[in-house]
Amino acid sequence: MRIVRSIPELRVALKTFRDGGQSIGFVPTMGFLHEGHAALIRQSMARCDTTVVSVFVNPTQFGPGEDLAKYPRDLERDQNLCLKLGVGTLFIPEPAEIYPTGFTTSISVGPMGDLLCGMFRPGHFRGVATVVTKLFNLVQPDLAFFGQKDLQQTSILRRVVKDLNLPVDILVVPTVREADGLALSSRNAYLSPEHRKLALGISRGLFAAERRFQEGERDPGTLAEGVRSALAGMDEIQYCEAVDPLTMDLLAGPITRPAALCVAVVLGGTRLIDNVLLSPTGEAAQFISHLDPPGGNA
Ligand code: PAJ
Repeated sequence: MRIVRSIPELRVALKTFRDGGQSIGFVPTMGFLHEGHAALIRQSMARCDTTVVSVFVNPTQFGPGEDLAKYPRDLERDQNLCLKLGVGTLFIPEPAEIYPTGFTTSISVGPMGDLLCGMFRPGHFRGVATVVTKLFNLVQPDLAFFGQKDLQQTSILRRVVKDLNLPVDILVVPTVREADGLALSSRNAYLSPEHRKLALGISRGLFAAERRFQEGERDPGTLAEGVRSALAGMDEIQYCEAVDPLTMDLLAGPITRPAALCVAVVLGGTRLIDNVLLSPTGEAAQFISHLDPPGGNA
């Protein structure tokens, strides 16, 4: 595995693969890697000739008062995991490599960036879209892998890729969970034992709603209310909604097309998000990767 820290080094490392006609898979991360990240890496390894992983805690996607400074880091563990998984190139840039003095350009993602997480994290998706577009330009991957846990992030990035004609395909990988259902997240490390127990309400509520949906319940409000009732004890429910998984628009009428139930809560100062996908035709959650963002000519 080659570990590179600068953009010129990265370009040299990847030129060999590109010149050799090898397909490049890319998994962008903020590090403190867990089995969720590993699932993306394994997908990339299975589908591409070589895999690039980036570890970069992106300052522009953190708001004032958010956890940028204390975001968990363990580079040595991340390196070992990537090595074990067979990653070809690990890119670990410093902030000044990505945002040198004088940097001013950013990507405005449009209305989707103000919905759900965007309502509580203004500017977050601008930061995500900007860094991911830069990383796409640096790595020039054929395929890039993102987790369903951050569903809004995947939909926004697919919008960006389509709108800006970026030559990359995005694949969405199902959420990896602890044995008891809690979605894996680097931020779970912040949870006290009591909050860890309470956090189970999120996946329990979502799974119960999923079962009700499978049994025929199609009313988005009823399903979302059911999830909400399982979130008792959280310090704050930021949102708990049934939405269109590609636009994040709230669903009004009965669910006849693919939908998602999305939740964000705060528990002991830690913000946790999760979602489940609902398909009226009963496809597996992977269907999300095959849906195209609405509109356009591609
Ligand atoms: P980070 O939170 O490190 O996540 C990196 C990738 O891992 C994202 O695509 C995320 O959705 C995925 N992931 C996280 N937890 C997962 C889980 N339990 N199951 C499956 N996939 C999971 O998301 C980011 O970093 C950043 O916003 C980034 C895209 C790197 C841009 O800075």
